[in-house]
Amino acid sequence: MCAWNDDQKKGLFVLIEGLDGAGKSTQARKLVDRLRGAGRDAIYLREPTNGPWGQKIRQIAVHGRDGVTREEELSCFINDREEDSRQNIIPALTAGKIVVMDRYIPSNMAYQGALGFDVKVIAEKNRHFPQPDIIFFLDIKPEEGLKRVEDRGGANLGFEKIEFLKEVYRIFNGPGFEMMIRLDATQGMETVGDQIWNRVSPLLGKRGLA
Ligand code: TYD
Repeated sequence: MCAWNDDQKKGLFVLIEGLDGAGKSTQARKLVDRLRGAGRDAIYLREPTNGPWGQKIRQIAVHGRDGVTREEELSCFINDREEDSRQNIIPALTAGKIVVMDRYIPSNMAYQGALGFDVKVIAEKNRHFPQPDIIFFLDIKPEEGLKRVEDRGGANLGFEKIEFLKEVYRIFNGPGFEMMIRLDATQGMETVGDQIWNRVSPLLGKRGLA
C-alpha cells in the first residue's frame, strides 16, 4: 500500500470523468496541450492503465465478464490504481507537475457500484490514494454516449451495455459525487474545452505553478 498524504502534493491533480463516449480522453489531452503551450509541466494519465492489471481489465472489456467475479474485477481496478499511484501519480505530484487524469476513483465507484457494490465501500477502499483537486464530469446520456462509441468503432462487451450504463449514470448523479463539476458534453468540443480551462487556470496561481 502506498503511504501518501495529500499535503505532500506540490503539483495539481485534475480529473476528467464521464460515461463512455463523453469525450473525456479528447478533453484531457486538449487540456494537457493547452497547459504545455502555456509553459506548464503537464502529463496525461489514464485508468485503466496499460500495465499488467490494466491489460487484465481490457481482457474483461473485450471478452465480457464470463468467469470473472465482481470481487476480482474490483480488485483489478484497485491493484491497477495502486501501481499507477506508486509509479506515475505520486512521483508527478511530488515533482510539482500537473496531472490530467482520464478516469479514476469516481469511475470505480460508479461502474463497480453498478455491479452491486456499495459506493461508500468503494470510496473507502480508495481513500489512501492521492485525491484530485478538481473533478469534471462530462455529462452525456447513456444512449448518446453509447451511440458515439459505436460510431467510432464498437463498444466493449464487458462495460458498455446500455442497461449497465444507465445504472452507472444514475450512480454518477447520486450521493457521493457532489464534488464533481458537471459540464454538458453535447455543447461541442471547443466550448467544453474552454469551460474546463476557465476552471483550471485560476488554480495554477494558487499552488504557485503560474
Ligand atoms: P477504456 O477502454 O479505457 O474506455 P474509455 O476510453 O471509455 O475510458 O475502458 C475503461 C472502462 O473501464 C470503462 O468502461 C470504465 C471502466 N472502469 C471501471 O469499471 N472502473 C474503474 O475504476 C475505472 C477507472 C474504469
